[in-house]
Parts: sequence; structure tokens; C-alpha cells
Amino acid sequence: MIKDNFGRTISYLRLSVTDRCNLRCFYCRPCQSRFMPHETILSYEEMIYLLSIFSEMDVQKVRLTGGEPFVRKDILYFLNRVKTTLPDLDMRLTTNATLIAGKIRALKDIGIKGLNISLDSLDRHKYQRITGMDCLDNVMASIRRCLNFGIRVKINVVALKGVNDDELSDFVNMAMELPVDIRFIEFMPIGHKTLWQKEHFWSADDIVSEVQNMVEIVPAPFSSLNHGPAAVYDLVEGQGRIGVISPLSNHFCGTCNRFRITADGRLRTCLFSDNDFRLLPLLRSKKISKERVRIVLERAGLQKPMGHEIMGARGSSEKSICSRIMSSIGG
Ligand code: 5AD
Ligand code: SF4
Repeated sequence: MIKDNFGRTISYLRLSVTDRCNLRCFYCRPCQSRFMPHETILSYEEMIYLLSIFSEMDVQKVRLTGGEPFVRKDILYFLNRVKTTLPDLDMRLTTNATLIAGKIRALKDIGIKGLNISLDSLDRHKYQRITGMDCLDNVMASIRRCLNFGIRVKINVVALKGVNDDELSDFVNMAMELPVDIRFIEFMPIGHKTLWQKEHFWSADDIVSEVQNMVEIVPAPFSSLNHGPAAVYDLVEGQGRIGVISPLSNHFCGTCNRFRITADGRLRTCLFSDNDFRLLPLLRSKKISKERVRIVLERAGLQKPMGHEIMGARGSSEKSICSRIMSSIGG
């Protein structure tokens, strides 16, 4: 087991399979960033080796992220390999869903039970302004197709005052009609060129009270479906649910159970901390045993900080909390 110094145990890994993305959401990739050279990216074999070590250390759940995971070549092959090598690992994916249209049946066959889909606007032109691509219709069609195949869908909406706050009722209507969780994530100042500004900040509390003025909601009963940092509400008369994730207004570091690994094999013990552990040289050295890798992971656990302290140290200034941009960390 990987433990830290604050009584937390690591049971969840977010693994970024590529830093590349076909979209350019302004809050995530505000600048023209250079992509990581291919040889510095973990190979699928290296990822499977790492996942097997984590799973021997009681990490039960992995979320594959990007960039955009479906940009990476042969991703379905990789998903299949993970499923067959580590059948008990609970594997999930976060995607912008722009590239999955022809792959949904395959995802179902591989055994993917749910997808988190990033979607910040239900208005075609605004979607294009936010992401740089005109593909809202494509994404909506894929969401419906996932639901038809019985793949659970959670929608991630970055809450942006002055950008998508006027669409709250449209998102609520979507959750009334479709059995999806729509989760609003407070905009975080991640990455050295972040466009974060106080004016864009829309707090989770405000979102919940605005939703309460529209429809009747009740806190969802605690279950494995709403584990994690989101506060989730059932819509009394609707199919889906509304959730809020409040990294800024109400930190949840005390129960954080996660590690992150970037596509170039850097282990981040906290989203907000740039203090990372380079795993790639360990994996590529013939002399380093599995046991040594395990010791490094245990040591990393002991250095996992309380993220909100890093946030607090930032004060009310408008600079970013960490230097890496979100698309190279994986959210
Ligand atoms: N603040 C909040 N959420 C963000 N995401 C990307 N950048 C930010 C940010 N600065 C979201 C994406 C994706 C998830 C992994 O993180 O929309 O859904
Ligand atoms: Fe790509 Fe997701 Fe970042 Fe948008 S938020 S640029 S879809 S990685």
C-alpha cells in the first residue's frame, strides 16, 4: 500500500497517455505549447508495467487522461491489453469525445463502463470559441450513442463566469432529459500562462443555489457512484444528476487518494505541486528492479503535500498555482 504522512492511502491513479490534444480549450491550453517528443513518452508496455506495480500496491482504480487519450495511436489496443493483463483494475477514461464516434462499440466490448466527457457549452458557436473546433454536434451524438450502449456518462463543465454561466438552465435541462451526471468544476489557475481571472470565477455554492432556484434537487445518497471530490445532487423529477467540484472554494485534500502520472512518466503527488518524481529513467534502466520502483512510489507517497496549503501560499494573487499546463498533467 502507498501511504502518506497525513493518514491518506493512494488507491487511485490518473495516467496521462499523451499530452497531445486536438482541441485548444482556452482554460487548459492557453498558449501554443510544444508537445513532448515521442521518445520521452511512456510506451504502452511501460505503462502496463507501471499499472501492474500500482495494482500490486492496492491501487484499484485508474483513469486514463490526456491531452486527449484518443489522439494516441492504437489506444484501443492499449485499453484491451490493460483489460486482459489486469482484469480487476477499474479502468476509466476522460475524453473530449470528439474522436470516439466509430469506437463506442469497441469501448463497450473492451468493458469500459463509463466515460467522463469534457463539454463546456451546449451552444455550437460558443463551443467553437472555447475549444477552437466546430464539433458540438459530433460530441452530442457520441454522448447519446454511449448511453444507448449502456456506457455511463459524466459531463465535466469548467464553470466560467461570463462564458457559460448563462447556460446553466440548458445544462440542467440536459440532466433532466438524459441519465447523465453534469459536474461543474471550478476554474483553477493551472499552468504558467493561465488565463484565470477573478472575474471568471463561479463558485460551486453559487451554482448549487442557482440550480435550486430552477428545479428540486436533493443530495445524492453516498455510494460508489459518487465517491470522490464531487458533491452530487439528484434531480427529483429528472433522469440525471448535477454535481459540483470545488477545488478552490472548498478543498477536499484531506481525503485525496490519488497520484498522477504525466505522459513523460513524471509522478505528481498533488495536482498543485510541481515537485515530481521521474519514473521514466527507472523504467528504462535494465538494472532497476520492480522492488526499487516500488520503493520510489512509497517514498513519493510520504512526500504528498496538503494541496490546499500550496493554494493558500499563493494568496489572492492571480498567478498560477503550478507551472505545467493542464493538458500535460491530465486534469
Ligand atoms: N480548471 C478546471 N478544470 C479544468 N480542466 C482543464 N483545465 C482546467 C482548469 N484550469 C478540466 C477539463 C477536463 C478535466 C480533466 O479537467 O475540462 O474535463
Ligand atoms: Fe484538450 Fe481537454 Fe484540454 Fe480541452 S480541456 S484542450 S479537450 S485536454
